[in-house]
Amino acid sequence: VHWTAEEKQLITNIWSKVDLGVVGGEALACMLVTYPWTQRLFTEFGNLSSAQAILGNPRVKAHGKKVLTSFGDAVKNLDNVKETFAKLSELHCDKLHVDPENFRLLGNIIVIVLAGHFGKEFTPACHAAFQKLTAVVSHALSRRYH
Ligand code: HEM
Repeated sequence: VHWTAEEKQLITNIWSKVDLGVVGGEALACMLVTYPWTQRLFTEFGNLSSAQAILGNPRVKAHGKKVLTSFGDAVKNLDNVKETFAKLSELHCDKLHVDPENFRLLGNIIVIVLAGHFGKEFTPACHAAFQKLTAVVSHALSRRYH
């Protein structure tokens, strides 16, 4: 993937202001509510019986922060996302058996949650840059599947 200087600037600027706990928690909760089949992978997390339960579940929040912090490794390694996520791709494939289509779904939700938080500052150019990044991350996470 080639990143223009402008794309890199847009991504790192927004990312420096992201509250990983808030955005991560909202994004993961939104995925579990919107695509309920993804709940199957998180049975250990306790009560996921309603949207309200999911949104208030501290383990969902904590895991969302973990996922978004990890997503931040892509921001820090824009030119090397594939290698950055090699181990995580193996984990999601071999151990967790996550259908890689779900990476795309979560990526789209991350873009939506960011847009909601940043409002006007999340310009169309920002949106396009993040959409590109979520596609790159999703591709990298799907890479070790066999
Ligand atoms: C665990 C990152 C998408 C399901 C993890 C961990 C990280 C991570 C860092 C913790 C790994 C560890 O403990 O060593 C990401 C990133 C994603 C992503 C960056 C995409 C942006 C998904 C999706 C699903 C998923 C879409 C399922 C729908 C899981 C599960 C665990 C996990 C079930 C184990 C949770 C636990 O019991 O602790 N992920 N993930 N991940 N991920 Fe993902």
